[in-house]
Amino acid sequence: MSSFQALMVTNENQFQRTYKSLTNNDLPDGDVTIQIAYSGVNFKDALASIEKGGVIRNYPMTPGIDASGTVIDSQHPNFQVGDEVIVTSYGFGVTHPGGYSEIQRIPAEWIVPLPAGLSLKAAMVLGTAGFTAALAVAAIEEAGLTTDSRIVITGASGGVGSMALAMLHKLGYQNLTAVTRKSSAHSWLTALGAAEIVTPEALIPEKLKALAKQEYDFAIDTVGGKLAEALIPSLQYGGSMALCGNASGIQLQTTVLPFILRGVNLLGIDSVNTPMNKRKAIWHRLATDLNVTENLKVNEVGFNELPIVFDSLLTGTHEGRSIVKIGGK
Ligand SMILES: NC(=O)c1ccc[n+]([C@@H]2O[C@H](COP(=O)([O-])OP(=O)(O)OC[C@H]3O[C@@H](n4cnc5c(N)ncnc54)[C@H](OP(=O)(O)O)[C@@H]3O)[C@@H](O)[C@H]2O)c1
Repeated sequence: MSSFQALMVTNENQFQRTYKSLTNNDLPDGDVTIQIAYSGVNFKDALASIEKGGVIRNYPMTPGIDASGTVIDSQHPNFQVGDEVIVTSYGFGVTHPGGYSEIQRIPAEWIVPLPAGLSLKAAMVLGTAGFTAALAVAAIEEAGLTTDSRIVITGASGGVGSMALAMLHKLGYQNLTAVTRKSSAHSWLTALGAAEIVTPEALIPEKLKALAKQEYDFAIDTVGGKLAEALIPSLQYGGSMALCGNASGIQLQTTVLPFILRGVNLLGIDSVNTPMNKRKAIWHRLATDLNVTENLKVNEVGFNELPIVFDSLLTGTHEGRSIVKIGGK
C-alpha cells in the first residue's frame, strides 16, 4: 500500500507537531477521498499548530481548515473520480483531519465543487479567508451599501482584511479606509484600493465615548477588542459593522447607545456553519464578481515550510495570504 505525508499534532504526555508517513488505513471516516493539491494558511491553522491554541479538540489531528484537490475515490453519487473540489469549514482540520495531508477523506456534505473560473490554486488563494471576506461584503451589501458609503476595514494586511478591501474595490467602492499597524503594507494596500490608511492608534481614543463623530457608514472588523470598541460609536446613523474576527482578542465592551440612538447594526459573520446553498452561492461570487486572486499579495510555500508561516501569523508579522502546495502542479 502506498504511503503519503501528513502534518500531525499529537498531545500524549507532551504536545508535538511532526510530519508523518500514513497509509489509506489511517484515513478517517467519510465517503469521498481526495488528492490534495493546495491548502491555505489561516490564523486558525497557526493556532491549531501550537499547544493550547484552543482550536484542536481531539488529538492526534491533521490541521488545515482549507483544501482543494481531485477526487480519487467516491462512495457518494454527487462526486465522481476526477472531480475538482474545495473543502473548507465544518470540522475540517479541527475535529476531522484536515488539509495538511497529501490524501484526505471527507464527508460528501462538506464538499463544494470547484466553480468554473477558479483553478485549484486560485481556490486556495481565496480559501476560508476569501470566503469570510465575501460573507462580510455580502452582509454589508444587504445592510444597504451604496457607492458613496464610507467603509473601514480592520486588520487590513491580514488574509480576510486584504481580500475584503480588494473585493470592495473590485465592486467599485472608493471610500475605503484600511486600518493597519504595518507601514510596510501601505503600498500594496493602496494598490488593492485603499483610499486612506490609518493605524489602530489613530482610531482608538484615550477615553472611549459611548457616541463619537459619525465617521463611517460600514465597517468590516477582523480584529475585535479595542479597535471594534472604538469603531462602533463612530458608525453613521443606520450603519453596520460586519464582525468577523478576534485577532486582538475576544473581548468587546460597548454600550447600547449606538444601537438604540443611531440604529447601528452588528452583523455576525460565521464561515464554519454557513448553509451549503449560501456556501455555493458565495463560491460562485468568488469565481466571478468577487474574484480578486489576480490582485492579491500571495506567498506560496512548500509543504515542509508550513511552520515558518505559522510563526509569522502568530507573531503578527505575516502579510497577505499564504498558500501551501501539497501536491499541486
Ligand atoms: N468568522 C469567521 O468565520 C472567521 C473566518 C476566518 C477568520 N476569522 C478570524 O478573522 C481574523 C482574521 O483572520 P485572518 O486569517 O485574516 O488572520 P491574519 O491573516 O492573521 O490577519 C489578522 C490581522 O489582524 C491584525 N492584527 C493581528 N493582531 C492584532 C492586534 N493584537 N491588534 C490589532 N490588530 C491585530 C493584523 O493586521 P495589521 O497588522 O494590518 O493591523 C493581522 O494581519 C482572525 O481572528 C480569525 O480567527 C473568522
